[in-house]
Amino acid sequence: MEKILIQGGERLKGAVKVSGAKNAALPVMAACILTEGWHHLKNIPRLKDTQTIKRIMSGMGVLFEEQDGVLSVNTENIRDCQASYDLVKTMRASILLLGPLVARLRRARISLPGGCAIGARPVDMHLKALSAMGVEMFLEGGYINAEADHLNGAEIFFDIPTVTGTENVMMAAVKAKGQTVIRNAAKEPEVVNLAGMLRAMGGRIEGDGSDTIIVQGVDGLQSVEEHTVIPDRIEVGTFMIGCAMTGGEILIEGCRPEHLAAVIEKVQAVGAEVKKSEAGILIKGPEVIRSVDIETMPFPGFPTDLQAQFMALMCIAEGSSIIRETIFENRFIHVSELIRMGAQISIHGNQAMVRGIDRLLAAPVMATDLRASASLILAGLVAKEGTTEVHRIYHLDRGYEGLEVKFRSLGAKIWREKA
Ligand code: EPZ
Repeated sequence: MEKILIQGGERLKGAVKVSGAKNAALPVMAACILTEGWHHLKNIPRLKDTQTIKRIMSGMGVLFEEQDGVLSVNTENIRDCQASYDLVKTMRASILLLGPLVARLRRARISLPGGCAIGARPVDMHLKALSAMGVEMFLEGGYINAEADHLNGAEIFFDIPTVTGTENVMMAAVKAKGQTVIRNAAKEPEVVNLAGMLRAMGGRIEGDGSDTIIVQGVDGLQSVEEHTVIPDRIEVGTFMIGCAMTGGEILIEGCRPEHLAAVIEKVQAVGAEVKKSEAGILIKGPEVIRSVDIETMPFPGFPTDLQAQFMALMCIAEGSSIIRETIFENRFIHVSELIRMGAQISIHGNQAMVRGIDRLLAAPVMATDLRASASLILAGLVAKEGTTEVHRIYHLDRGYEGLEVKFRSLGAKIWREKA
């Protein structure tokens, strides 16, 4: 087991390049199952989660080769359609294999993802949509057993714009008979990146990026010559917030500012200067951090995956702020750990009231989920009087590629040790 140690107080300076997005890489890797052949993917981040989906797919007969930053995926000999509990329990996004497996093999056996630290996270909308497309499903031994003699296009309406739900249905629909219309679809850039990959494979998709996606099923797809995964907007947001917290000045290279409009607006409201350029985003932190309220929303609103990090920033802001979490019902677990560092936060249902203080204090703290771990590291970058120890960082490694190495390259005193 490892931990990360931080001696706070350094202003972040210099340039940093962001990795490919976890939440774009996972559906893109799953989509390779849709048709046989060699698929060539670029900018796939080296993360625990991309390793996990590789392990599940290898178990099905998929081959992986990596060379010069290209991940080549061979899906010619898929002989199994099962995603086991042991692996699915470590990564809920394994549900993304359901759509492609049913579309390609007309059957799948996927362990039903349980709840996770941030909420119950049911997949009922995925299952309801696939059954509307003709997929028969039954639960046995904690596994979803799915079969489809015929996969038909359908009218799908999501009560809530679900990201992986939209992705699963898009992947099933490209090989269904007829037209599928997804209403109240998720508009996240990761959904658009996947639609781009499916079009490159010969899929017929329109409307991705809007709340209505139309898919015309096709008989055959071809493997993808080259598909590049988008940069990780959540990693970019984490660096922007780190810069604002430390009063630094950094250039974040290789990012897509248009994916971060809501975040840029809030970071500017806090007092930071943000310049967008071809190279990326140049950000200069404020001398005094202003308190700003946020409410998490589906894209293009403020992302829930940056709520914990923004809360760390508000802990040292001038004045009080309200942070409202509308996506997941249990995404304030990081609060008690921030309070251990001296933060003043009170929770009222899905709202947290943060009273800004002059400084946080170094302390040993425990990560509870991926984004909570990032918020504790940010708090450690500014904490005084000693060394912050962040434990259970296996959560962090699920979704950040060498975060502490990148912060160290920007001047932070941060390192990893065996716990
Ligand atoms: C994706 O999760 C991301 N994961 C999450 O990132 C992100 O927080 C979330 O979207 C919201 O932006 C991946 O892309 C792999 P949803 P997903 O379905 O698709 C409810 C991270 O830190 N819901 O859009 O699972 C659900 O409970 C992770 O990188 C149902 O009720 O999220 C939630 O309240 C964490 N039934 C809301 O919808 C369903 O069938 C939105 O969830 C599906 C979802």
